[in-house]
Amino acid sequence: MLGRPSFTLSRNGGFRAENIGQNALEMIANLCFSLFVIGVLIFTMIAATYEPEDPLFHPSSKLTNFLTSNSNATFKSDASVVKTGEDFVASNQTAFATFINITDVDSAVVGTAIEQEPGLGSETSDCRIDDPINCSDPDVFHLLMRYAIENFKDIHFYRFGKPVRGSNDSSCHMAWRFRPKEGKAAAFYKDYRSFTVVRSENCTLSVAGIGNYHSGGNARKRKGKGRGKNREKDREGFEKVPAKMEDNPIALPEVGETVNDALPMVESEGSFSNSKYLIYSGGGDRCKSMHQYLWSFMCMLGEAKYLNRTLVMDLSICLSKIYTSSGQDEEGKDFRFYFDFEHLMDSYPVLDQAQFWSDWSKWQKKDGLSLHLVEDFQVTPMKLANVNDALIMRKFGSVEPDNYWYRVCEGETESVIERPWKMIWKSRRLLDIASAISARMNWDFDSVHVERGEKANNKELWPNLDRDTSPEALLSTLKYKIEDGRNLYIATNEPDISFFDPLKDKYSTHFLDDHKDLWDSNSDWYVETTKLNNGNAVEFDGYMRASVDTEVFVRGKKQIETFNDLTKDCKDGVNTCTISS
Ligand SMILES: *[C@@H]1O[C@H](CO)[C@@H](O)[C@H](O)[C@H]1NC(C)=O
Ligand SMILES: *[C@@H]1O[C@H](CO)[C@@H](O)[C@H](O)[C@H]1NC(C)=O
Ligand SMILES: *[C@@H]1O[C@H](CO)[C@@H](O)[C@H](O)[C@H]1NC(C)=O
Ligand SMILES: *[C@@H]1O[C@H](CO)[C@@H](O)[C@H](O)[C@H]1NC(C)=O
Ligand SMILES: *[C@@H]1O[C@H](CO)[C@@H](O)[C@H](O)[C@H]1NC(C)=O
Ligand SMILES: *[C@@H]1O[C@H](CO)[C@@H](O)[C@H](O)[C@H]1NC(C)=O
Ligand SMILES: *[C@@H]1O[C@H](CO)[C@@H](O)[C@H](O)[C@H]1NC(C)=O
Repeated sequence: MLGRPSFTLSRNGGFRAENIGQNALEMIANLCFSLFVIGVLIFTMIAATYEPEDPLFHPSSKLTNFLTSNSNATFKSDASVVKTGEDFVASNQTAFATFINITDVDSAVVGTAIEQEPGLGSETSDCRIDDPINCSDPDVFHLLMRYAIENFKDIHFYRFGKPVRGSNDSSCHMAWRFRPKEGKAAAFYKDYRSFTVVRSENCTLSVAGIGNYHSGGNARKRKGKGRGKNREKDREGFEKVPAKMEDNPIALPEVGETVNDALPMVESEGSFSNSKYLIYSGGGDRCKSMHQYLWSFMCMLGEAKYLNRTLVMDLSICLSKIYTSSGQDEEGKDFRFYFDFEHLMDSYPVLDQAQFWSDWSKWQKKDGLSLHLVEDFQVTPMKLANVNDALIMRKFGSVEPDNYWYRVCEGETESVIERPWKMIWKSRRLLDIASAISARMNWDFDSVHVERGEKANNKELWPNLDRDTSPEALLSTLKYKIEDGRNLYIATNEPDISFFDPLKDKYSTHFLDDHKDLWDSNSDWYVETTKLNNGNAVEFDGYMRASVDTEVFVRGKKQIETFNDLTKDCKDGVNTCTISS
């Protein structure tokens, strides 16, 4: 068939030009704002010790504090989830990417039909009712797009992939990129579903049913495993239609897309021996909170970037006991369980240390590779700029807090080394679980975060929290905020879900644990993490739980927070409200 739908091409030029202007303005605005914030911070920091606590349930101005400030930071053992690069992209910054409107689809098909007799589909001429459905037929494509747009009212579609044959003669699989219409999370998503298509006696095609989130596996494909700057790889399986995604200057995670985070290999002796490396060794950050881990990791990554050196990193993480079910620190976790290593590899040259040391021992003598050892964190990155040795190794001692990696980025270095937040995103496997849960509620839900746990028990620091988060109090607070009968996602650290039973009369309540199948032994998550973990099953640990819970929360249409919305208690205990909320 000729005349493939080309519904958005004509619009592109216009939209882009506008957006460049808009972006420039926005950048200037952001810059002014940042300067303002830095100004404010200088004042604030004299008065209060900065605490790089969780910016999670804070408005985005608070995130800026988190990004710009440091200086002798101390970390409380805060069990909440860390912010990563994608959280700093305001969700409306991507609003300019125009979505596909139903009228676009219709006009595209009129265009197609001109090649034939107007108004008649290609299959109408000599159809037999039980002929297999030809999923490649443009009419089928049109039918499915229309069906998807009309059925999923709460998402915007950005691109459709061509349908492919499904599991039988009446099934087609089709993929699309989308974003929820509301909600604060900045990301693009990929879904692929199976459609059952039936032909009636008069040869009209219609959709008889549609499968669940990610039910259309045949449309999932993703080819090309290019590394580095090559971002061509995920173009496969989509129409060339809206070129918007490529034009989008703000990189965002593509949730639901296949993750390709196998460890990088050095291609040859030449490429190994011609590169320069930075490695951090030892230190007191291990088994600390994820906030401290990331704060330190970002300092190291920032230094590597400043020195133009490949970062040699340890992908093995120790998960602090504040997140584990055993109550003990747990070694042997993988960076890739929590963060998007593929995105990191695409953003910056990194190597796993095991791979690095094996190559190093092979070629070090032969190629005369030398090592520069730094044992004092007060040796600034600036002093290392002219070091020519192949490897710079920073060794950290055993005395806290001078053995924290982030100490390297304090003092005069603070203004020189920029923490490259854009390179670190959350694990897309975790985001995908959040996306699946949201899809099960059709992206049409409100959410409430009910923090209880230790804080609710500590009446000294949080005198009202326990009472304010009781089911009775919740019902009366939510009465004016959330309509009866709504889907209500409750993100909580309250272990006993039946605690919230009284809310069931008014709302359709949902909890993380309603969706255990998304990480049980039949799930994609389980299969993929087991593979990363050399065949050993990975526990869906406390940090992952909190991470997914939070991600679903921020995808709600209305989001009710514990602190401020449910209680007047302060997030960090009595009299801390002025600083953190
Ligand atoms: C940070 O700590 C060092 C000593 O550990 C001290 O000399 C310095 O003044 C502190 N800086 C700030 C901003 O508090
Ligand atoms: C995004 O939202 C902020 C605050 O709500 C607003 O100031 C800004 O203009 C918005 N940006 C766009 C591109 O809509
Ligand atoms: C779709 O496009 C039509 C015509 O351009 C416009 O009137 C309508 O508001 C659009 N719909 C949405 C949801 O943007
Ligand atoms: C299905 O449709 C495509 C595009 O219209 C066409 O090229 C192909 O030959 C058709 N296949 C069958 C089996 O009819
Ligand atoms: C084809 O597959 C779809 C979805 O997998 C299913 O709903 C439908 O009943 C199947 N049709 C036949 C004829 O087997
Ligand atoms: C074909 O049949 C379907 C249902 O049997 C009906 O809804 C549709 O209007 C008919 N189309 C035409 C063009 O007759
Ligand atoms: C790193 O590379 C950039 C650009 O390639 C250059 O401007 C900068 O001076 C380099 N830094 C060092 C420490 O070599």
